[in-house]
Amino acid sequence: MIKTAQLNVTQIEPRLKHPTIFEHFDALVQGEAFEILNDHDPKPLYYQLLGERGNIFTWEYVENGPEWWRIRITKPAAVQEDTVGSIAAKDIRKADVFKKLGIDFCCGGKKSLQEAAESVGLNEQELKDQLARAEQQAHGSIAHDFDSWDLAFLSDYIHNVHHKYVREQGPIIEQLADKVAMRHGSEHRELLALAEGMHAFMADLYNHVKTEDEKLFPVIKQLVSGGQLQPSHIKETIATMEEEHEDAGNELRQFRALTRDYKLPANACNSYTYLFEKIKEFENDLFQHIHLENNVLFPKAIALSQN
Ligand SMILES: [Fe+2]
Ligand SMILES: [Fe+2]
Repeated sequence: MIKTAQLNVTQIEPRLKHPTIFEHFDALVQGEAFEILNDHDPKPLYYQLLGERGNIFTWEYVENGPEWWRIRITKPAAVQEDTVGSIAAKDIRKADVFKKLGIDFCCGGKKSLQEAAESVGLNEQELKDQLARAEQQAHGSIAHDFDSWDLAFLSDYIHNVHHKYVREQGPIIEQLADKVAMRHGSEHRELLALAEGMHAFMADLYNHVKTEDEKLFPVIKQLVSGGQLQPSHIKETIATMEEEHEDAGNELRQFRALTRDYKLPANACNSYTYLFEKIKEFENDLFQHIHLENNVLFPKAIALSQN
């Protein structure tokens, strides 16, 4: 049952906006929709919803500014038969489970869950349990109060969560971009440029996180434990890191322009779809990662060095 056909977001207390919208979204059953009304484009919500609930909704601008934005959010009706391919296309977390297990859900993969489970030596229920766990992880994500964290702890968090993510997911995306460019590049030339740009982008990013892990974060930890350092030294390193963040953001914008905001052609195969979803997920994670550095870790480290 839909609780409210239209939700006027401007009338909700700021800290309750996103939880309220999520509550409405969770109350939808497949095939139902609700609208949100806002006085600015709520695009960040789209990414948050995609990140926390997966690719299980459609986002449609009924009104697109300049004063009001009205978005219809729909949970599409269930497909008749849940094949591995359709499950992967709807929820990127489940696609990750298939990938980890070595289940092929790409072009031509029309297997049922039972067939897929058997192909990797599991029974259907075991596979369903793994998929359900992936879904729970997404729903169980909690908001951290990063601003109150000790800087050494925050550095470790960025290293263990975001840098690890870059190192693990970067090569997967590079490989996928090559595969999709090889299969579909003759018809969609932009995929060739995307794959080439992706290799350069990731190479820069691997170097960037290496510098932070090996040079900058140890210095920040030294400061936290009372060490004295030249403020100019840490300021210069941070300025370089911030410039590189800016470059990364520009490159991501270029990828979006190349792919027209990751618009998929009609009948795009699962690899094509998966690649675009993975890049969007990566972009989302990188934005949060850079936010924690630019807006929390770096300014506090500079202030600490000047004490
Ligand atoms: Fe970083
Ligand atoms: Fe960084």
